[in-house]
Amino acid sequence: MATHIQTQALNHIPADVVSVSDYERLATEFIRRDILEYINGGVADDHTLLANRHAFNHLSLYNRISANFSNASTQLELFGRTQTHPLLLSPVAHQQLVHPEGELATAEAARAMNTPMIISTLSNTPLKEIAQKAKRSWFQLYWQPHREANARLIEAAERAGCEAIVITLDAPVNGLRNRAQRAGFQLPTGVEEVNLTGLPQAPVQALNIGDSIVLKGFMADAPSMEDLHWLRQQTTLPLLAKGISHPADAKQLIQLGFNGLIISNHGGRTLDTLPASIDLLPAIRQAIGNDIPLLLDSGIRRGTDVIKALALGANAVCIGRPQMWGLAVAGALGVAHCIKILQQEIEITMALCGCPTLDDISEDVFFKHSDIKQESIKEGNL
Ligand code: FNR
Ligand code: LAC
Repeated sequence: MATHIQTQALNHIPADVVSVSDYERLATEFIRRDILEYINGGVADDHTLLANRHAFNHLSLYNRISANFSNASTQLELFGRTQTHPLLLSPVAHQQLVHPEGELATAEAARAMNTPMIISTLSNTPLKEIAQKAKRSWFQLYWQPHREANARLIEAAERAGCEAIVITLDAPVNGLRNRAQRAGFQLPTGVEEVNLTGLPQAPVQALNIGDSIVLKGFMADAPSMEDLHWLRQQTTLPLLAKGISHPADAKQLIQLGFNGLIISNHGGRTLDTLPASIDLLPAIRQAIGNDIPLLLDSGIRRGTDVIKALALGANAVCIGRPQMWGLAVAGALGVAHCIKILQQEIEITMALCGCPTLDDISEDVFFKHSDIKQESIKEGNL
């Protein structure tokens, strides 16, 4: 385990920390600068990173009165299991970068807050230990060039009690992490990808002179449609794909037998100038129909963001960076508090938007600019 790469976390929550953005602000005091640039950075010029927030902020909501809240609930069913809130933890690698307990502290928070944790292939703690602590977890697979290595990871996840498998498909090569590069970020010694130790390795592809390492090297190791078909046969657990942005890809994966999708631009960390995740949602929902579970991450920071995502067709959302901020500031307590804040904000937003249950959240919650005109015409003001 790496030591001395972070400032010791607090064992209490400061009174002025009341929102996820407060954790973002405070985390800068606890995380070393190069590591912070790795975590907080997007790619290239951060257009997508910024778009994720702008797009949520540019959607406006209506305050509604007179709904009946006697049977109100934030509960939902996903893949046959009940959840108290439409919120999960996105897979986030290398959590020992910000806290010595890393993923185990996050798992403790997930357990305390009844929130499923999606465990990254690149966790610094063995997935079995994380799954045990979290109680409810899914496993995120980064495709390994040797098929047998993927089979072993899935088998380990099944044995650990993970409830679903998520393969991330938007990062066959790393995006241009210019901010991390400028800050000289490198994974510190001791922060290890322990789940990959001892897995069968594929032979290194020989490249010809002039061949691109990216296009012929990394991309040769990316999963093909045949690999994804093979993967579907390897588990009876629900299988989801994460990092889907094009409706045609979404449709193809559902036809291949995938059970759900996570719309994501990786928090703006893969292809810069991808649209905001919320802007990708309606077309994908339309492409796959209403019956396939659709999750969304990238830029969720407020309960209002969650309601907006649900209104446009998501069943639930996931949070990425807020886990790292909470973890750095106050360990398991900080992560649990971030989740608690969002859960309460979801409830407050539902109350103010007049939506007693998640099923009541529809596009009717949105104020549209055409509404201004219609109201004005009715009033005879134009
Ligand atoms: C990630 N993300 C990620 N995704 C994934 O599929 N596997 C992984 O191991 C990681 N690791 C990872 C590390 C760090 C430091 C970050 C910030 C992100 C992406 C993550 O699952 C999620 O898509 C985004 O973080 C969501 O955006 P927000 O909530 O961070 O804006
Ligand atoms: C990242 C990888 C690990 O976003 O998914 O840094």
